[in-house]
Amino acid sequence: MLGIGSLAKKVFGTPNDRKIKSTRPLIDQINALEPEFQALDDEGLRAKTAEFKARVEKGESLDHLLPEAFANCREAARRALGLRAFDTQLMGGIFLHQGNIAEMKTGEGKTLVATFPAYLNGLSGKGVHVVTVNDYLAKRDAEWMSKVYGALGLTTGVIYPQQPESEKKGAYAADITYATNNELGFDYLRDNMKSELAQMNQRGHNFAIVDETDSILIDEARTPLIISGPSEDRSDLYRSIDRVIPDLTEAHYTLDEKTRSVTYTDEGNEFLEARLLALGILPEGQTLYDPESTTIVHHVNQGLRAHKLFTRDKDYIVRDGQAVLIDEFTGRMMQGRRLSDGLHQAIEAKEELEIQPENVTLASVTFQNYFRLYDKLAGMTGTALTEADEFHEIYRLGVVEVPTNRPIQRIDEHDQVYRTAREKFEGVVKAIKESHEKRQPILVGTTSIEKSEFLSQMLEKEGIPHNVLTPASTSRKHRSSPMPASSAR
Ligand SMILES: Nc1ncnc2c1ncn2[C@@H]1O[C@H](COP(=O)(O)OP(=O)(O)OP(=O)(O)O)[C@@H](O)[C@H]1O
Ligand SMILES: [Mg+2]
Repeated sequence: MLGIGSLAKKVFGTPNDRKIKSTRPLIDQINALEPEFQALDDEGLRAKTAEFKARVEKGESLDHLLPEAFANCREAARRALGLRAFDTQLMGGIFLHQGNIAEMKTGEGKTLVATFPAYLNGLSGKGVHVVTVNDYLAKRDAEWMSKVYGALGLTTGVIYPQQPESEKKGAYAADITYATNNELGFDYLRDNMKSELAQMNQRGHNFAIVDETDSILIDEARTPLIISGPSEDRSDLYRSIDRVIPDLTEAHYTLDEKTRSVTYTDEGNEFLEARLLALGILPEGQTLYDPESTTIVHHVNQGLRAHKLFTRDKDYIVRDGQAVLIDEFTGRMMQGRRLSDGLHQAIEAKEELEIQPENVTLASVTFQNYFRLYDKLAGMTGTALTEADEFHEIYRLGVVEVPTNRPIQRIDEHDQVYRTAREKFEGVVKAIKESHEKRQPILVGTTSIEKSEFLSQMLEKEGIPHNVLTPASTSRKHRSSPMPASSAR
């Protein structure tokens, strides 16, 4: 017997079925328009774009324009690439335009799917960003699909690392811009550090279509992009403050060894204020309690900590002109590690070493916050349903499963989930053993050499013969066929 839930599904369809069905009238309209657009010559297709743009300008909604724009795009792609978009691809394009995540299985042609909503939304002239996971894909997709946009009379740009500013600006000014999430995020940060509007490269965040959405929007959601750099040189300030510290007496401050903090007493504050004024560190008429004094107060505190809480040869040693920290548990030197917030500089001043500039975060943003900037966001991926809840929670994005153009031949097995890495590797070894007994050849991919070697040890114990490929063993193979000179940089 059917439960109420599954009975309802039988009668009304699942929510996904209903979404699929809702696109039917639009797809029928696009199909019906096909002969009309096929009859246009190449110039006619571009003239259509001009007409659509004018209609958008006059206030016609993109939703209303969708059937004609999609029909025009389908015809342009057929001519430019020799690919006639399937109904399922139009369907994916509709879902993207509506700001959803379209789940379309691998090989269903998502690269082409993106051109439909990109073209439609590009008609507004506000720019569309198509986001990919790596620079190779950004370039490949831009080159491939620019033929379609070109046939429609729209321009395509691509963003890549270390791109000259002038070119970057042009790429962002294009109707459709292909870029990786990394480059987009960093360009956003770099724009934010500029002092003039005219220097900015990005011209707003209108609509983004994110390919491989699950990895960009979920796996990397909280990854912060950070631009850091040396702060202004404050060596003189550190040195001047350092000279004041030895004159302090125990009545001037209290130490808390446990939390490694210091506080000045009222007496200490008065004493410091007078000294700092005399030295000209504190400007005439300014007290330590004024908001403008925050930086000075901070460094005076750090100076005191450096002198009273950090002991040479216990907490740090001086070596080759540098203050090197010592790990309090192991007693080892922590080469390259520095205390933050000017504390390391205060120690350098105390030891009369050269003062290294502080590295400060100048700008930072997470992918999650970057992509929330867009007025409209859409995504496409081969696998999104498992993360549907997260997409909804973080980005308010719905996931729609688009049917494949032809019935799937492949059997998609469920993911195996293990509680511990140990259990996972045991599971892997078991699967390898089973295949090996059937005399099947097996290729095992891991994410690191360490993991490959770990697995190799486990296989050894089971007596399963195998080879481990490491970068060293594969590069030997490359050496016999040298790269063409033109690709060597
Ligand atoms: N309408 C079409 N007719 C015929 N071939 C098509 C059509 N659309 C796409 N293809 C072809 O399908 C192949 C796969 O396309 P594409 O790489 O865009 O798939 P995808 O969905 O992005 O896959 P993946 O999930 O692996 O990234 C390409 O070789 C492309 O030329
Ligand atoms: Mg793809």
